[in-house]
Amino acid sequence: MAIPHRRDVPFARLTTLGVGGICRWLFEPVTEAQAQSFVRTCAREAMPWRTLGGGSNLVVLGDVEMPVLRLRLPQELRREGLEVQAPASFGHIRLSAATAEMGLAGMEYAAGIPGSVGGAMHMNAGAYGRELVDILARYRFLTAEGEWVEKAPEPGEFRYRWSVLGEGRVALGLTLRLVEGDPDRIRALVEDYRRKRGTSQPLGKRNAGCIFKNPAGLSAGRLIDQAGLKGLRVGDAEVSPEHGNFLINHGQASSAQFAELMALVRARVQEVHGVDLEPEVEIWEAPQPIVR
Ligand code: EPU
Repeated sequence: MAIPHRRDVPFARLTTLGVGGICRWLFEPVTEAQAQSFVRTCAREAMPWRTLGGGSNLVVLGDVEMPVLRLRLPQELRREGLEVQAPASFGHIRLSAATAEMGLAGMEYAAGIPGSVGGAMHMNAGAYGRELVDILARYRFLTAEGEWVEKAPEPGEFRYRWSVLGEGRVALGLTLRLVEGDPDRIRALVEDYRRKRGTSQPLGKRNAGCIFKNPAGLSAGRLIDQAGLKGLRVGDAEVSPEHGNFLINHGQASSAQFAELMALVRARVQEVHGVDLEPEVEIWEAPQPIVR
């Protein structure tokens, strides 16, 4: 089965951070069947590959030679009562806005979280004490062997910034279960979340969101801030003066510079606070480990 693909696409165009080299093979299926054919072929050939979503939670450190899968499914939402079905390649913020438009409440927290719905499933994206699994009725994915599965989430499958989909599975889509809401109240909440984010995060600069996970009961941003690291710069990579857990790219940051800045922050926080920060973003290293 022919699957649309492109060669040699710079990660500067595929990620919000804009760091990294070249994506040698970018496969962009427009149907679930094409995605399934891709996964089955890779599984049969024992060929490692990676899945890319909106590229907003990803730091790429070098060129990627293995095939990369990025879904381009039809941008259609289906609503049945309080349930809304969306494909994984739908924009996460767009879905939040669309459900608000429908007068459905529950996804306001996501109004400012970029990326694709598939990426949000992969990471169990969340903010302000809410996360995707709270409103997830069912989800669809391909197993690492290319088998199509739809199921309701079960305990342990979605945790803080982690889901079972990370293990070589490909998110295909989801069905949200929301509640009837008052349109004015929904709009006010969305505005409130947007405003909060706009004042505390450097949204005008290229970034990958929060770089490190919050250690239990602590804030990585505050730890970095208290260690005096805001404004620390390696080339074009800088610890945001606005939010310590955002590392920004002023335009030309290389993979090496970005990796060095991450390592410096980690080492300094360890020294000052005795805390080992764990990356929250996905990191594609070069040379690449086998992912499946
Ligand atoms: N703080 C500082 N200095 C800083 C940054 C933060 O003192 O440089 C303090 C703040 O004043 C606040 C506390 O640390 O008292 C927490 O900060 P914030 O409200 O910005 O939240 P966060 O814990 O840093 C988490 C998520 C964000 C999400 C916000 C809002 C993680 C790693 N981060 O940030 O998610 O947007 O809450 O809910 O879980 C992401 O996942 O990429 C992300 C940005």
